[in-house]
Amino acid sequence: MSPPLVLGLESTCDETAAAFVRGRAVLSSVVASQHDLHAEYGGVVPEIASRAHAERVLAVVRAACAQAGASLRDAEAVAVAHRPGLIGSLLVGVAAAKALSWSLGVPIVGVNHVHAHLDAAFSAEDDPRELSPALGLVASGGHTALYACVAGRDPLRLGGTLDDAVGEAFDKAAAILGLAQPGGPAIEALAAEPGADAAALPLPVSRLGRDSLDFSFSGLKTAVLYAVRGVPRPPREGVVHEPPPPLTPERRRDIAASFQAAAVRALRLKIERAIASRAGGPEAFRGLLAGGGVIANRAVRAMLAEAAAGAGVHLRLAPPSLCGDNAAMIGLLGARRLAAGRADDLSLLPSPVAADA
Ligand code: KG4
Ligand code: ZN
Repeated sequence: MSPPLVLGLESTCDETAAAFVRGRAVLSSVVASQHDLHAEYGGVVPEIASRAHAERVLAVVRAACAQAGASLRDAEAVAVAHRPGLIGSLLVGVAAAKALSWSLGVPIVGVNHVHAHLDAAFSAEDDPRELSPALGLVASGGHTALYACVAGRDPLRLGGTLDDAVGEAFDKAAAILGLAQPGGPAIEALAAEPGADAAALPLPVSRLGRDSLDFSFSGLKTAVLYAVRGVPRPPREGVVHEPPPPLTPERRRDIAASFQAAAVRALRLKIERAIASRAGGPEAFRGLLAGGGVIANRAVRAMLAEAAAGAGVHLRLAPPSLCGDNAAMIGLLGARRLAAGRADDLSLLPSPVAADA
């Protein structure tokens, strides 16, 4: 018997997305991004996001049906990202999923958006039990955290950012450099230009104590700000403050490369620390999973490949098409939960926080 056709819905932040999956096969994936609506405010405006989700959700579901060559009536379950995220945005997706579940007479299954980023790393051929326990890294605009992933259980959070997410730091560094949003791809492109010098600027990588698996990216962001605008110091007699060097195209390129290298070093430090903390023991990690928007970055992917090879663990990276927010990953984890008998019912509620945040 073929696995059920699952409609996935995603509306946790500023992407309205719908997808059809069957088992691990993605049959369609439609993402309507709201970047243009929030651009002039320099960040996501929750009220605008909720309204845009409400306006777009049905059209996006219809587009996912058309792309999959399916009718809404073919859906055998509805999976919806119900946490964590902006509450008004989540409400739209959860209300739509409940309406579809009720009217189609099919089960509804709530999916943790962050866990879905991790699940997207498994390929269709993988049996998660063979990679279990795996260390999971979610690196996106809203989240940067490490998880212990044991097959059949919800991922357990080991540590995470104390301030900015790494994707947010990419976005802020790009804004400081006058680049377009979202900043991650813009920084990556500049850093990859010939001649870009990743060692041009000494930038900080936070360690946060010997055993910490937490991250901090606000110091790195501030260092980029000071490199571009100069270091603010209270005026003192006899001290002459040099203005920062002009932001020539070469300097902008070098700052982008230095920032990206520092962000990659910060991720690597904690991944290696986490793997080393269990190495040789009964719970030693066998796999390294990574997902989220920042995992689309080629320098990050290359670092993860090196770290996994160095530690002798199997690496699974979400494919670039499943890195940024999308509904296919929601459908995929929803299908897994459904198969494990973990469906929800119409009492499902959205929540702004991850249960284990
Ligand atoms: O997973 P995602 O779409 O949304 C959240 O759950 O936050 O991640 C978006 C984040 C943004 O901060 C964006 O700048 C970053 O992922 N991002 C990248 C790249 N592509 C997207 N960061 C670095 N390099 C990239 N190529
Ligand atoms: Zn996300």
